[in-house]
Amino acid sequence: MKKILKILKKKNKSKIICLTAYSKNIAEVIDKFTDLILVGDSLGSVLYNYNTTRKVTLNMMIEHAKSVRQGVVNSLLVVDMPYNTYRTKNEALKNCKKVIKKTKCDAIKLEGGVKIAPIIKHLVKKKIFVMGHLGILPQSVKGKFKIKGKKIREKNQMLKDAKAIEQAGVFSFVLEGVEKNLSKVITKNTKIPTIGIGASVNCDGQILVTDDLVGLTQSKIKFVKEFSNIRKTITQGIKKYRRDVLSKKFPNKKYSY
Ligand code: KIV
Repeated sequence: MKKILKILKKKNKSKIICLTAYSKNIAEVIDKFTDLILVGDSLGSVLYNYNTTRKVTLNMMIEHAKSVRQGVVNSLLVVDMPYNTYRTKNEALKNCKKVIKKTKCDAIKLEGGVKIAPIIKHLVKKKIFVMGHLGILPQSVKGKFKIKGKKIREKNQMLKDAKAIEQAGVFSFVLEGVEKNLSKVITKNTKIPTIGIGASVNCDGQILVTDDLVGLTQSKIKFVKEFSNIRKTITQGIKKYRRDVLSKKFPNKKYSY
């Protein structure tokens, strides 16, 4: 609860820093700098090369979140509920409880607006902290992802979705691939923080897939900025290792018993 309050208090004051993690080692490194760490179902495409997040299972999310939990001290830990695990109130409650029990995460995230508001309300009533996700919804998209909020119809629907999930009790929500003016209106008209990914600087916080920003995935998506390139660092290390093994420099006395 303390970590959620800390995030809520940042609205209109300072930006909220969020990132994804799929394993302990990455979580440990980023935890000192983040307010929120998400075990995203994007792990389906990033780690398993799936063409859709729909193939990600509850057990995959649980195993990755268990690993991430080991590396998180400071940040709020949120786990994505994968596709087809929250279709009814009972199904959602059973699966969310399972994820929370097995991973000790602080909150879960669900994709959707008006349609899933009754499910969110039910989970919140049962004392589960829920994060929302609007805009591009990878679990619902077939084919190419398209920016949301350019058409009036889309804009109006997203405003309704934002109101519905806020009223249902989410503590915050992700805006993915949303046109900048719409992000501004949504952020201004909600009391809870909006976290953008490809949704402009107008959101209360930002999230990126860590593997993208450190140059592991070599992503070509417009909203992804490569802030560092650990592929290069790994390559340098591996080259040195290979050279030293071939020349019998490694392992020398220091590294032998
Ligand atoms: O699955 C994920 O990593 C996400 C973020 C991109 C917000 O939902």
